[in-house]
Amino acid sequence: MNIRARVLESQLARAARAFPALLLTGPRRSGKTTLLRHVFPKADYRLLEDPDELARVRNDPRGFVASLRRPAIIDEIQNAPDLFNYLRTLVDAHPQAKGRFLLTGSQEAPLMQGVTESMAGRVAIFQLLPFSHEENAKVSLLLGGFPEALARPGQASLWFRSYLQTYLERDVRAVSAIRDLLTFRRFLALLATRHGQILNKTELAAPLGLSVPAVGQWLSILEITGQVLLVPPFFENLGKRLIKSPKVYFVDSGLVCHLLGIDSLAALKRSAFLGPIFEGQVASEIVKAQINRGKRREIYFFRDQQGLEVDFVVPTGPGRLAFIEAKSTQTLRPTMAAGLLRLQKASHRYKTDAFVVCPGASPSGFGGLGSGVRGLGLDDLVGEPLGLRVWSSQMR
Ligand SMILES: Nc1ncnc2c1ncn2[C@@H]1O[C@H](COP(=O)(O)OP(=O)(O)OP(=O)(O)O)[C@@H](O)[C@H]1O
Ligand SMILES: [Mg+2]
Repeated sequence: MNIRARVLESQLARAARAFPALLLTGPRRSGKTTLLRHVFPKADYRLLEDPDELARVRNDPRGFVASLRRPAIIDEIQNAPDLFNYLRTLVDAHPQAKGRFLLTGSQEAPLMQGVTESMAGRVAIFQLLPFSHEENAKVSLLLGGFPEALARPGQASLWFRSYLQTYLERDVRAVSAIRDLLTFRRFLALLATRHGQILNKTELAAPLGLSVPAVGQWLSILEITGQVLLVPPFFENLGKRLIKSPKVYFVDSGLVCHLLGIDSLAALKRSAFLGPIFEGQVASEIVKAQINRGKRREIYFFRDQQGLEVDFVVPTGPGRLAFIEAKSTQTLRPTMAAGLLRLQKASHRYKTDAFVVCPGASPSGFGGLGSGVRGLGLDDLVGEPLGLRVWSSQMR
């Protein structure tokens, strides 16, 4: 199999030289196991999934830990969270030894509790999301970025269906007592229709006969497991802030297309959701670019009382902000820059850059937007516009 380079590789390699342990989390099927095995090919590899192996580990955690050759990859460690205590003992006995334990696990609440409580400061934590556009040019609105959806585009629809059943629902069940999976599926479908909107839990709860706290809990599971992205409002007093709720997006555009029943490019182009789905892809790409480079995830939206709206505000350096509008069109018009220019005027405390991001390649010049605002293709979004280093797979 042809393994593609991931941007996160260099962060993992670097962290393995600085921390005794690493933990790689992220949504199911995003490529965690493949990535760890690729970056640490000589590591002892143990998968905690097989029931017999698990029973052995649970019966004799000390023996299991002692049997590990180091470095060791322990895959799916959430299945044996007690191991954290034993690993900590080993780490503390030789705190100067780095990169000894390389762990993966779904970022579920119990797992994270185990880590934060018992291994705080000793473990570097990373999240791997599906492929980004810079990692794999096949990433698209319709297919999203999951490696398996991209490997067999003809079967993507089938793949997403089984993904929802096998992985998502299993993750969700592992974290909370959601027994009513049918309602959970309806919840996902309803949430997909709110993709790109300001989160309103009451509106999500009512049609499903759920309580608002239940919706909050389901959403936080989806967020923790890397399926859903909540984009908070920008808090600076550039204008009067009214909105406190975040905007909600599915991380993977392929998954949201599937949930909306969009199964072809023609259907996507016709769909009323095209705009929000593209906006979500831009949000996802920004977040992937940040976290894959070991940076904090930082993205906001802007909306004020006077009706001024800008899709995304991204801090790009000290005192510097990028204002970004996402437009799923190849034809940029000056009206598309109006909000960006108004927000730029209102934010004199910052150095600002303004972009209208469209699919594909960048238009030449200002792309018809008028001066001050740059038209940017999704191909060129990551890198200098976001204040990040450009990555290429040759950099590994
Ligand atoms: N870098 C890559 N290049 C090509 N294919 C990949 C890459 N990473 C993952 N894949 C493919 O995607 C699928 C899922 O990968 P992998 O098992 O590593 O994901 P995972 O996040 O560990 O999944 P799970 O949550 O089920 O443990 C596999 O079929 C794998 O071959
Ligand atoms: Mg795995």
